Amino acid sequence: MKTLAVSGKGGVGKTTLSALLVKLLSKKKVVLAVDADPNTNLNIPLGVDVEKTIGKLREDIVDDPKAIPDGMSKQEYIQYQLQMTITEGSKFDLIAMGRQEGPGCYCYINNLLRVFMDSLTEKYPYVIIDNEAGMEHLSRRTTNDTDVLFIVSDATQTGVITATRVNGMTEELNLKTGKTVLILNKVLDIPEDLEELISQGGFDHVFTVPKDKGIVKFISEGKSLMDLPETSPAYLKIKQITKEINV
Ligand SMILES: Nc1ncnc2c1ncn2[C@@H]1O[C@H](COP(=O)(O)OP(=O)(O)OP(=O)(O)O)[C@@H](O)[C@H]1O
Ligand SMILES: [Mg+2]
Repeated sequence: MKTLAVSGKGGVGKTTLSALLVKLLSKKKVVLAVDADPNTNLNIPLGVDVEKTIGKLREDIVDDPKAIPDGMSKQEYIQYQLQMTITEGSKFDLIAMGRQEGPGCYCYINNLLRVFMDSLTEKYPYVIIDNEAGMEHLSRRTTNDTDVLFIVSDATQTGVITATRVNGMTEELNLKTGKTVLILNKVLDIPEDLEELISQGGFDHVFTVPKDKGIVKFISEGKSLMDLPETSPAYLKIKQITKEINV
């Protein structure tokens, strides 16, 4: 099993690149896509609906513990319900985390959830996690034990500085991260004035992904990126990147 996580500052293209990774890797193997952004939206470029998030399920169980049917243990019920939150696509499955915290006591459910997620992810050759913007997910340690951490940035100083912080944080927190890969999104080449800053960022690899008219068109028309032509420049670049880093 290989876990690929996608991080970076707001609006830089994390969800789009996660969807392209799902499109690419699901051609050969079954992929589990994890939407770890509380503002659930990875399902949109993937072209599927999400009925229920894990966060909502957790709330429902705390709000109405009597919903557990007679003859079913609490553990069985939660496991069954968790299974039901998986959206099954033809080439990939999707699970949306939804909002993580709430006012109730979630300890029992959180423990079950951890066990469930561990046993679930083990079943897939690829797990792709689209994170919320920023670094919360690192400090909460929900992004731990990844084979590749893609840190997406725009071609600006602020973007690269944020990406560098994300990279530094994985070390500071001692997170298990295989490779960190900086992706400057929506540009053809690395701008000269960013080269030095990038070289100081400590990334294992640095790539660019071009701005892709096809993506803009598909998104504005509400079409799934799963149907994006395989000749699309951004898709081809993602293909080349995964090859170069041995994913
Ligand atoms: N390579 C690309 N070419 C063209 N458009 C792109 C590309 N990458 C992302 N976009 C567009 O940029 C916008 C922001 O992308 P996206 O939603 O993937 O960012 P994000 O980092 O996930 O944002 P958030 O922080 O809100 O989760 C979207 O409209 C998306 O279609
Ligand atoms: Mg996003």
